[in-house]
Amino acid sequence: AKKVLSGIQPSGSLTLGNYIGAIKNFVKLQKEYECYFMVVDLHAITVAQDPAALRENSESVAALYLAAGIDPSIAHVYMQSHVPQHAELGWILTTLTAMGELERMTQFKDKSAGKESVGAGLFVYPSLMAADILVYNADLVPVGEDQKQHLELTRDLAGRFNHRFGDFFTVPEPYIPEVGARIMSLDDGTKKMSKSDPNPGSRIGLLDPPDVIRKKISRATTDSGREVIFDPAAKPEISNLMSIYAECSGMSLQQIADKYEGQMYGGFKKELAEVVVALLEPIQQRYQDIRSSGMLSDILAQGAESARISAARTLEGVKERMGFLPTR
Ligand code: AMP
Ligand code: TRP
Repeated sequence: AKKVLSGIQPSGSLTLGNYIGAIKNFVKLQKEYECYFMVVDLHAITVAQDPAALRENSESVAALYLAAGIDPSIAHVYMQSHVPQHAELGWILTTLTAMGELERMTQFKDKSAGKESVGAGLFVYPSLMAADILVYNADLVPVGEDQKQHLELTRDLAGRFNHRFGDFFTVPEPYIPEVGARIMSLDDGTKKMSKSDPNPGSRIGLLDPPDVIRKKISRATTDSGREVIFDPAAKPEISNLMSIYAECSGMSLQQIADKYEGQMYGGFKKELAEVVVALLEPIQQRYQDIRSSGMLSDILAQGAESARISAARTLEGVKERMGFLPTR
């Protein structure tokens, strides 16, 4: 079976952008492929994390995976740090990565801009991400638009290794949805919705209570026009709200435009809020059940155990080809 791999950082509470851009597709792909869905805690520590917050966010992301419909009996669900081969292959790939390639990464440029001290981990982050993917020879990587450049580097590194040491790694393909790959912030239609934005009003949290969701959507920035039409260049905020509507309801953008033709933003926003609440309420209910059940640590242990087997096999092949002495 073809393999799918993806991960989300436990660096805050997940947003509707994470759901639409990533988790929703994880759920869809798990039936057809062998799937690896990690919580990428080693990536999260590339910016300072408070230990208690890291623990909480790690459990929360794992529980949200399950609550959103990822089925641990068919997909491997686990913590990146529970499979040491990620870090080991990450180091090896770092030695195949050029400084210039890392300097060009827009996520690094964004996250390091204006900081007087930037950790080296943030710089080599993409080599670790490449290792996450290549260590299972994943074929397909479902991510949002912002990860496209990291995927390109992963493909380059796979090709480089294969060229130098003999054909070995699968060169992975990105899987980026057409609508919803870049959900924008609610207060600025030119910025992506982010779990680390200082203004909580800029995002919908997957765990936001219904009334908070209603309030945030009613306060979302719009243009001064009045037509609900999809035109990202001229009407970025309304277009974004329409994308959210489409992704949460299953309706097409055209159906939404038709439905709200001749109506003003107020009614559209009210109904959008109900569409989002209807999607998230059952997820939140299952989330609470999973958190209180205490079943998470067993599921994560099982996921890591099966992942370690195939990761260890890959690493043996890598080391042998590169000329490392075998351990026995
Ligand atoms: P992160 O929150 O950076 O760990 O991202 C986890 C996944 O969610 C990645 O695949 C991102 O591309 C995706 N993602 C994050 N924010 C958004 C957004 N605003 N719109 C669409 N996808 C997103
Ligand atoms: N860099 C990704 C992000 O910030 C998270 C990530 C880490 C990832 N390793 C991965 C995504 C491997 C896909 C595959 O969103």
